[in-house]
Amino acid sequence: MKINTVTTTPFSDQKPGTSGLRKRVKIFQVANYLENFVQSIFDSLEGFQGKTLVVGGDGRYGNKAAIQTIIKMAAANGFGRVLVGQNGLLSTPAASCIIRKYEAFGGIILSASHNPGGPDGDFGIKYNAGNGGPAPEKMTEAMYSHSKEINRYLIAELPDIDLNTIATTTLEQIKVEVVDPVTDYAELMSELFDFNAIRALFKSGFRICFDGMHAITGPYAKTIIEDRLGAPKGSVINGVPLEDFGQGHPDPNLTYAHELVEIVYGDNAPDFGAASDGDGDRNMVLGKGFFITPSDSLAILTANATLIPGYKDGLAGVARSMPTSAAVDRVAAKLGINCYETPTGWKFFGNLMDAGKVTLCGEESFGTGSDHVREKDGLWAVLFWLNILAVRKESVEEVCRQHWQEYGRNFYSRHDYEGVESAGANELITQLRNRFDSLPGTQFGQQKIAFADDFSYTDPIDGSISKAQGIRIGFADGSRIVFRLSGTGTEGATLRVYLERFENDVSKHVQEAQAALADMIVVADKLAGIKQHTGREKPTVIT
Ligand code: G1P
Ligand code: ZN
Repeated sequence: MKINTVTTTPFSDQKPGTSGLRKRVKIFQVANYLENFVQSIFDSLEGFQGKTLVVGGDGRYGNKAAIQTIIKMAAANGFGRVLVGQNGLLSTPAASCIIRKYEAFGGIILSASHNPGGPDGDFGIKYNAGNGGPAPEKMTEAMYSHSKEINRYLIAELPDIDLNTIATTTLEQIKVEVVDPVTDYAELMSELFDFNAIRALFKSGFRICFDGMHAITGPYAKTIIEDRLGAPKGSVINGVPLEDFGQGHPDPNLTYAHELVEIVYGDNAPDFGAASDGDGDRNMVLGKGFFITPSDSLAILTANATLIPGYKDGLAGVARSMPTSAAVDRVAAKLGINCYETPTGWKFFGNLMDAGKVTLCGEESFGTGSDHVREKDGLWAVLFWLNILAVRKESVEEVCRQHWQEYGRNFYSRHDYEGVESAGANELITQLRNRFDSLPGTQFGQQKIAFADDFSYTDPIDGSISKAQGIRIGFADGSRIVFRLSGTGTEGATLRVYLERFENDVSKHVQEAQAALADMIVVADKLAGIKQHTGREKPTVIT
């Protein structure tokens, strides 16, 4: 094999964020930008000679070209085998599943998750380790260090691989296998869930609308929900992955999944609505005219887990990210299992799962998952819900209301101020930090501040410390406001404000979350000067 050593100079901006390196497509198109980062990944790994690398992506613009480059670089760097999804497709959870199943050394996933795609959209790349999970911080730091020093990359002179055809090609020392992206994942789902019960549910006339948002989950949902579980054809909408996601923003929330929201809140609504994001790791779950917050969803899955074959023996423990509501904490307390609070981002759950400490985990940002893979998993959450409904024979709304009745309700909302000036956003955070000592005891309207801090996490498994993970303001009545800056945005800064208030009295549950949190919304602005620092009158997205 002819290997070329190409001389290069580093870029200064290849620091991976919450989930990999994410930039505008235009930036990735700059000569050597992708190659430099891929080489930085390989240079920070050891012991992969002759081993297997999994490669695939969410199908966005640039996906296939990047895959051809990565295969040639993997060959030049000494990998022995590459497993790649047909047409270059692999959802993030399916990539995790395949890495684990075939005991690959690791995998490279091309995705910018829910960020828009197309030539004017975003592109991204992340490395997942042999456990199937996102590279831990130590590893991403090493990649970043290499990216700042890089002066050459290695690439083999090989023909392009035909990604459209399932086949194995041996190119001198490297074997490239193009695999079906759905089969292994579908098999894993059928081991966890009672497919017969769900099939019977659909047979009884239960209707679902699953919105693939023109992104990766279309083929997965069609195979599993329509073909294998028997939901009528057409139950999956927007099910063909497009390079620009149909010009949409494939983020499953009430703002961006509006087509689905109109269907489930409209006349003749189906019994169940669900959507997933660009790379298939997020989920939104809806009943007939009824929205389940991701925080409540995690709590409800936890409370009902033993109804599911894959979890019938109970859960080792659960985990949630810090800004996620404490609804699941109440369930964990009742079940007598541990509930861990981690910083935002999926990589923190991996250590807990590898150590057998937690089975289910989730984030408020429409991410839920379990130890079946090491990523959050959109379709898995949908199947979990369907299995619960098939067993309990109740509606989504009934299941949720009964849950609040039993555990109380954590009213919850996240307000995002997207693409604001970085200087103002940083200033807002700095000013809050400077007031930690003076805030406790201060009265804001009805609310009295009990504590103010910056969340710091010590990993219970490896002892690593992650500081400055978000400002927490706790109030005397147990309510909470969290302020943090996004680590995944590509333009300016995004301020996230997380609001939470617990209500034990079920008779008050008729209130909408925004109404129930109205006081807290005013307090958040008074406390942090949101309007003043962002120049925005209101959030861009409310979930
Ligand atoms: C966002 C979410 C976070 C999630 C991440 C990747 O990160 O808030 O929970 O893990 O996307 O999907 P952020 O932009 O807030 O850093
Ligand atoms: Zn995603």
